[in-house]
Amino acid sequence: MQLICIRSLYAGCGNLLGNIKMSEYKFSEDQEKEIARIFAKYPVKTSALLPSLTLVQRADQVVSPEAMVAIGKKLDVSPAYVQSVLSFYTMYHTEKVGKYMILFCINISCQLNGSDKLLEHTAKKLNIKVGETTFDEKFTLHREECLAACTEAPMMRVNDTYYGNLTEQRIDQIIDSLD
Ligand code: FES
Repeated sequence: MQLICIRSLYAGCGNLLGNIKMSEYKFSEDQEKEIARIFAKYPVKTSALLPSLTLVQRADQVVSPEAMVAIGKKLDVSPAYVQSVLSFYTMYHTEKVGKYMILFCINISCQLNGSDKLLEHTAKKLNIKVGETTFDEKFTLHREECLAACTEAPMMRVNDTYYGNLTEQRIDQIIDSLD
């Protein structure tokens, strides 16, 4: 629903959704400083889009429609442009996810090394289905295409950490070690 709102703004159909009000996103002082630093690195403003999205997600865990509008304003691009770039990358979230986002590679090298079975094991251990978040909001489990660590297959990424050569036992150890 939120994405429809963004698209509608872009398409100039905002009046059709006149009753939908978005609050304004406020960057913190530190974020403003960091954004200025990011902008200074690039000759073209739009090049700062991915780092800006990352900055917001690190602070909020998600990139809200309000944040997309605010980032678009800073970059002089439409919210729909921001959303279109964001939606290409699976590491950005528009909905709340768990403290730990587990991305389980299911591409060919990992699959040949048993990722299907290991993913099933992980889902069972967490007592959720793939795509869901645990009740305590600690873990979210997703399938992912090749994570570019094929030599470590089968592998998964938990937030920014890669874990390779997985076995059921190793997965249990990794999950149990995360507080
Ligand atoms: S196929 Fe799994 S990391 Fe490349």
